[in-house]
Amino acid sequence: MGMPAIIRRTAFRMDPERAHEAALRALQVGSPLLMPAKGYMATRDASVHQRLMGLDFAGPVGLAAGYDKYGRAVRAWGRLGFGFAEIGTVTARAQPGNPRPRLFRLVDDEAIVNRMGFNNDGAAVTARRIAAAREGSGAGIPIAINIGKSKVTPLDDAPADHVASYRLLRGVADLVVVNVSSPNTPGLRELQDRDHLTAILGALRDEDASMRARDGRAPMPFLVKLAPDLPDAQIEDAVDLAGELGLAGVVLTNTTISREGLTNPADPAAAQQGGMSGPPLRARADEATRIAARRASGDLVIIGVGGIMDADQAWDRLASGASLVEVWTGMVYRGPTIARDITTGLVDRMRREQVGHISELVGSALAGGG
Ligand SMILES: Cc1cc2nc3c(=O)[nH]c(=O)nc-3n(C[C@H](O)[C@H](O)[C@H](O)COP(=O)(O)O)c2cc1C
Repeated sequence: MGMPAIIRRTAFRMDPERAHEAALRALQVGSPLLMPAKGYMATRDASVHQRLMGLDFAGPVGLAAGYDKYGRAVRAWGRLGFGFAEIGTVTARAQPGNPRPRLFRLVDDEAIVNRMGFNNDGAAVTARRIAAAREGSGAGIPIAINIGKSKVTPLDDAPADHVASYRLLRGVADLVVVNVSSPNTPGLRELQDRDHLTAILGALRDEDASMRARDGRAPMPFLVKLAPDLPDAQIEDAVDLAGELGLAGVVLTNTTISREGLTNPADPAAAQQGGMSGPPLRARADEATRIAARRASGDLVIIGVGGIMDADQAWDRLASGASLVEVWTGMVYRGPTIARDITTGLVDRMRREQVGHISELVGSALAGGG
């Protein structure tokens, strides 16, 4: 399937961030071009349905954080065939992000470099917008809210900053991802060390417990999102910690500050400061998933993201131990049918290879240390 050539040509002539904004606007109003009919793009096949973290995922392909930072198209994602969507990163306070330009295409590699810097409306406004979108028929899929530290907040005050966001966003979230891995907020990735992570996630867990004591809701599944640039041992340590703190899972990976793996390293966009995403990130993101999956105990869910553009690549990531996958850069280079294309591709291949259910595929490449 993929994207009609004319749409791609037009979009690629535009400034990348303007093209992104246009795509979001089209999805928000439900352009007939992109959304022929409600439910048309959705794939409902029992072989890919999973119940994870107390939630129903009709398909394994999610929208990665940072595509819908403002929560503007919450109703669109399920209709496009996404099994879940991660909204944000949302910070406690509204912030403009870095000056433009801050989003760059590396077309030869189907890659992106970005230094957006958590531009968003802040937790209060975003929570109200998502709540409105979820009324009535709502999103139809689990909605993850990705939260991060406000730029002005010192690193040591990160726990309170996350708690402030969580208080406002809990009511619109089915799961919460803590983003300590963006390269575009100074110092942020230091929050991936054991002490900071314990403080932030402990504070969130305590806040959730005290809110539950008042309203009796189910515990919130918390996940932590990690950088591909962490040494292997620190990925293992973060996975251990996730188990100790009772987290629901880990998301691997965010963008990389590395520029390895480019077929065209001379592309001027490669010299831009920021995090790189897309196919050059795929091998490391896949490796990070394997490291985490081998280390994870019990029912820790791994969400695999980084460089997944098609069904076979999603298949590989699932086999490496991810129960769910996400895409961002694939939306740009393969278009808004990507979730549906990957999901139907997975269903077809499972049928061909006589894999009865996606859970048999998850982690299948890890057997025997492979
Ligand atoms: C322009 C852009 C903005 C992003 N913003 C965020 C963000 O706000 N929070 C976050 O956790 N990840 C963010 N990401 C990272 C993606 O969620 C994802 O981890 C990464 O792009 C790798 O996946 P991909 O290769 O499919 O793009 C962003 C990525 C891009 C390209």
